[in-house]
Amino acid sequence: MTVNGSQVAAEVPDRTLLVHFLREQAGLTGTNVGCDTSSCGACTVLLDGRSVKSCTLLAAQADGRSVVTIEGLADGAGELHPVQRAFRAEHGLQCGFCTPGMVMAAVSLLAENPAPTEEEVRTGLEGNLCRCTGYHNIVRAVLAAAGERETS
Ligand code: FES
Ligand code: FES
Repeated sequence: MTVNGSQVAAEVPDRTLLVHFLREQAGLTGTNVGCDTSSCGACTVLLDGRSVKSCTLLAAQADGRSVVTIEGLADGAGELHPVQRAFRAEHGLQCGFCTPGMVMAAVSLLAENPAPTEEEVRTGLEGNLCRCTGYHNIVRAVLAAAGERETS
């Protein structure tokens, strides 16, 4: 598969989950495991541009496809992605454990709906849980990122 623009190939047991492949084979530990049962969204990555929970997919299901993780969002020069910048500016994180998944889900949400309402942001992020309950600033961050896209 392609991960963050680079080819990654490995032989893995059939049952290997994509999240474990990313963390253990590709060394990309920004994708977190929160629940392992498709509930929390901490493992969210982009698969061919759309957000997926990587604990719900086998690594083999991503064979030949393109995966983007939180490590792949900033550009090569280290410039943060607009959604990352907005999370920082709006204090959209507390402990940060859910943050990579939230950011990836937000990137996918804004790709599908570049100018969401607050309600649409809340609905769009329903599959991602923040145990710190910092949702207010997360929603503000996504709306700020959308606003930045509109004015840039
Ligand atoms: S670890 Fe995948 S949804 Fe929680
Ligand atoms: S910032 Fe702590 S779980 Fe979301």
